[in-house]
Amino acid sequence: MKFFVDTADVSEIRDLAAAGFVDGVTTNPSLISKTGRPIRDVIKEICGTIEGPVSAEVTATDFDGMIAEGERLAGIATNVAVKVPSTWDGFRACRVLAHLGHKVNVTLCFSANQALLAAKAGATFISPFVGRLDDIGLDGMEVVREIRAIYDNDESFTTEILASSIRTPLHVKEAAIAGADIATIPPAVLRGLAKHPLTDKGLASFLADWGKTGQAIL
Ligand code: E4P
Repeated sequence: MKFFVDTADVSEIRDLAAAGFVDGVTTNPSLISKTGRPIRDVIKEICGTIEGPVSAEVTATDFDGMIAEGERLAGIATNVAVKVPSTWDGFRACRVLAHLGHKVNVTLCFSANQALLAAKAGATFISPFVGRLDDIGLDGMEVVREIRAIYDNDESFTTEILASSIRTPLHVKEAAIAGADIATIPPAVLRGLAKHPLTDKGLASFLADWGKTGQAIL
């Protein structure tokens, strides 16, 4: 499973990319808003930092507006993936943008049927929002499992499942088990994958015993 980072914070992206854990980046209007910078500048900088796909989201809600904004965003760099919402106009825009040769990430997906439409429209990525489904008392990961089964039933589908709205290390593990192709992960959650209290405890006791030997490896 590939790791995308779910942030528009360029210093975070650089830091995680230097560690070798960034296969791509996803942004959305809320994450761009947090930077306080123009979307074009932020996306251009991220695209210059990593080689993988960088999702940039349209804010128009009508078909013509999505096409115009999508073309503008795709023109920023060759690794931009245009994000369109899981609406009727969004699916129509996905088909056209994909035919124009752009990578398209269909976002705000909350059902397997939306994912089916995205695949039929030629989406590069489908983004089921796991955490937001959990927030309303549903099982977000079940939608990922359903999409996996549907996509595996039709060899003509090439859309990758991008598990999104990932909030916890458990979400990451479950997305990998469910067969998601990618998880987009907030930086703090990605770093949290390394943490285990028994690792910390074991390391402290090894170092205490090592200290008693008076030895040094270097
Ligand atoms: C990814 O593309 C989404 O923008 C993101 O994962 C949403 O996460 P949230 O539900 O935690 O805001």
